[in-house]
Amino acid sequence: MTRYPLHRPHPLGVHPGYERLRAECPVARVDSPYGPAWLVTRYADVAAVLTDARFSRAAAAAQDDGGVLLNTDPPEHDRLRRRVVAHTGTAHVERLRPQAEKIAAELAARIPPRAEFVNAFAEPFSHRVLGLFVGQLVGLPADDLSPMATVLTLAPVPAGERAAAFGELRRRLAAQVDADTLGVVLNIVFGGHAAVVAALGYCLLAALEAPLPGLAGDPARIGDLVEETLRRAPPGDRTLLRRTTEPVELDGVRLPAGALVIPSIAAANRDPDRPVNGRTARHLAFGRGPHACLGMALARMELRVALGALAVHVPRLRLSADPGRLERTCAELSVSPLAGIPIRV
Ligand code: HEM
Repeated sequence: MTRYPLHRPHPLGVHPGYERLRAECPVARVDSPYGPAWLVTRYADVAAVLTDARFSRAAAAAQDDGGVLLNTDPPEHDRLRRRVVAHTGTAHVERLRPQAEKIAAELAARIPPRAEFVNAFAEPFSHRVLGLFVGQLVGLPADDLSPMATVLTLAPVPAGERAAAFGELRRRLAAQVDADTLGVVLNIVFGGHAAVVAALGYCLLAALEAPLPGLAGDPARIGDLVEETLRRAPPGDRTLLRRTTEPVELDGVRLPAGALVIPSIAAANRDPDRPVNGRTARHLAFGRGPHACLGMALARMELRVALGALAVHVPRLRLSADPGRLERTCAELSVSPLAGIPIRV
């Protein structure tokens, strides 16, 4: 039986086993860290799992805690999501663009000659822009949300300090919103950082192949590069797990009730049979269906703004390590940033 996970051979690559599974056994029984599961690798099948209520998130939450929104099924999930969804779209995000551009320019100009990209740019950029977004959502200045950086950083923090920062952040948010909305806002806080840091790292590697200076002042090329990188190297190889609530037939395979399902974004995004027309059809990096990413407009804006600023302010940026040797923080989790990206500017 195939063992899951299948590791990426390169940060922008995909394990060759996915190609074989998708062609020969697209709904495959695997041994996973969660026990026996079904790995789904075709675009159409992954999209079907994510949009079919018989594949429950709530029933898989014990294996894979995603916070209140990602642990709930409709109709309860719809009720919670409605608390914030109107404030997460492109129009709200675009209001933050000028400030995001300023932050990106400041951080890019301050990168020392030898640096580590996650620490020098990706983390502070993501923290500060997420602070603006959450602040706009709950009606607080971003500065009041400064404990968020300690709560979310991927760097080691003494356990007590992280817990204290979380307590303070929670207290400040709770003073602004009711208990239900607080849960959803915390889901946004926790969903809104690591995936962006991961995508920034992968987009940087892709931009260096582009190469970087050619992207300066070319928003259309930057937008395409971001989408293409999300397709070929999504921050997470998979979405969160699902569990069947009743027997279901998927691509000719009969799954029993209670089957644990792993929808593979990494495999689906490289399916030659995926639809090619339309922006949302290009990849499943942001998921699909009721749980589709609430932060996708913000993430897209952040990635475009960051690459634009790097191309203008540090066009000579280069890696000081072989990209093939850069390690992901975790090969299995649904989101895995690169552990460190040594650069020179
Ligand atoms: C490039 C960056 C990002 C990627 C690739 C990404 C990817 C995803 C994916 C695949 C899902 C669906 C998971 C599933 O169905 O199991 C998801 C859900 C979610 N994301 Fe993102 N995300 C990103 C950035 C963000 C940001 C910036 C935020 C917050 C501002 C955010 C907040 C959320 C939330 C709250 C959910 C749960 C939605 C729900 O259950 O209704 N994400 N994301």
